Amino acid sequence: MRNAQMIAPPSFGDARNSRQKARAAGLDPDRWYAVEYDRAIKKGQVKEVVFWNVSIALYRGEDGRLAAVQNRCPHRQLKLTQGVVENCRLRCGYHGWTFDRDGWLVDYSHDSFGKPLIKNRLRTYPVQVRYGLIWLFPGDPARAEERRIPEIQELAGDDPWAGFTIDFTWRSHHSMVIDNICDFAHAFLHRKYRPFTDAKLTHHEADEDRVYLTYDAYMAAGRISGIFVDRQRVNTRSIELCYEYPYQWTNTGDSIKNWSFLLPIDERTTRVFFVFYFDALKIPLTSLKTPKWLTQAVLNIAKPLVFKPILEEDGIALEAEQLGYDSHFDAPPVELNPVVPLFQKLTARKWEDYLVRTGALGETESKQAAG
Ligand code: FES
Ligand SMILES: [Fe+2]
Repeated sequence: MRNAQMIAPPSFGDARNSRQKARAAGLDPDRWYAVEYDRAIKKGQVKEVVFWNVSIALYRGEDGRLAAVQNRCPHRQLKLTQGVVENCRLRCGYHGWTFDRDGWLVDYSHDSFGKPLIKNRLRTYPVQVRYGLIWLFPGDPARAEERRIPEIQELAGDDPWAGFTIDFTWRSHHSMVIDNICDFAHAFLHRKYRPFTDAKLTHHEADEDRVYLTYDAYMAAGRISGIFVDRQRVNTRSIELCYEYPYQWTNTGDSIKNWSFLLPIDERTTRVFFVFYFDALKIPLTSLKTPKWLTQAVLNIAKPLVFKPILEEDGIALEAEQLGYDSHFDAPPVELNPVVPLFQKLTARKWEDYLVRTGALGETESKQAAG
C-alpha cells in the first residue's frame, strides 16, 4: 500500500508545486462545457457524457428537446443510458422505471411490485446548443444563468464565417492540453506540416481569469496551407492566444481564428473540440479572396488532410507526456517558456477556488488532519 502511494502522482491536496497541482486539478463545474455535437444525438437517442468522473445521460426526446439527467437508476444503479427514450422520458433498461426530463419517476408499471418508495428526483443538468455543439452545465444549476458560453461573433448572425469543428479524446490531463495548444515551442513535432515555425514569445500578461500571450511566428508555413493563405492581406507573422479559463482561443491576423473547448472526462482523459473559422482564403496564383462557399469547400478538404494529422501529432505527444508524468511526477519542473507555469497556476487556482467555494477543500484537509 505504501509503495502504491509512493508511485502515484499526488492528489491536489498533496501536490508540492503548481505543476503537480495543475495535473491533479479538475475544471470548475460551474461553467458551460461542450460535451457533444448537436447532430450526434437524434430524436429518441441517449448517450453517456462523463464530466470529471460523473456520468450523465444526455438524450433527445421525440419533441426534439435535449435533456440531461444523472446516469444512475435509483433502483439497482444501472446506467440509464442502457435504457430507452420514450417520447420525452427515459426508461431504465432493467425493470422499466421511467423518469421525465426533470428527473421525476413517472412510470413503474413494468415492475409488478407496486409503487417504489422514491422521494427524490434524479439530478438534472442545464443544456444548450451553440455553434453546432451541445453545452452542459455540470455544476450548481443556480449559477448556470450567470455564466456564459463564449460569444463568437464570427459564427453568430446571418453571415457566419466558413469553418469546421474537429474533436479528439486523448488519454491526457486537460492541463497538458492547455500547455500544448498555447506553447509554440513544439514546431519540431509538426515539422512535416509546419503550422507554425520560428515562434518567439513577444508579450504575455495574466489576470484572475486568463493568460493572454502573443508570438511572432511564421504561421501556416506548410506546403498546402501556404497556397491558400493570403499573406498580402493577412498578417501571418504573429498570433494572439488566450487561455480564457476554462477555454482557449487563437487569432491570426483577424482572419484565421479558433476556440478550443475542453471536456475533462477524468484525471487522464480529455475530449477537446477544436472550432476553426476563417474569413476567407485566396484563390491560388491570384490575390483574389475565396467566396464563402469555396472557403468552406477548401476547409472541408483541409480538415482531414492537414488539421487532423497535425492535431493527431499533438495527441501522440500528449499521451506520451501523461505516461511520462505518471512515472516521473516528482522530477523538478524544467520549463523554458515563461507562460507555461502561468497556465498551470491559473488551472490550480481556479480548482482551489472551486473546492473552497463548495467546502470540499476544508473537508479534505480536516480528514487529513484527523487521519
Ligand atoms: S434497475 Fe432501473 S428499473 Fe430496476
Ligand atoms: Fe501542436
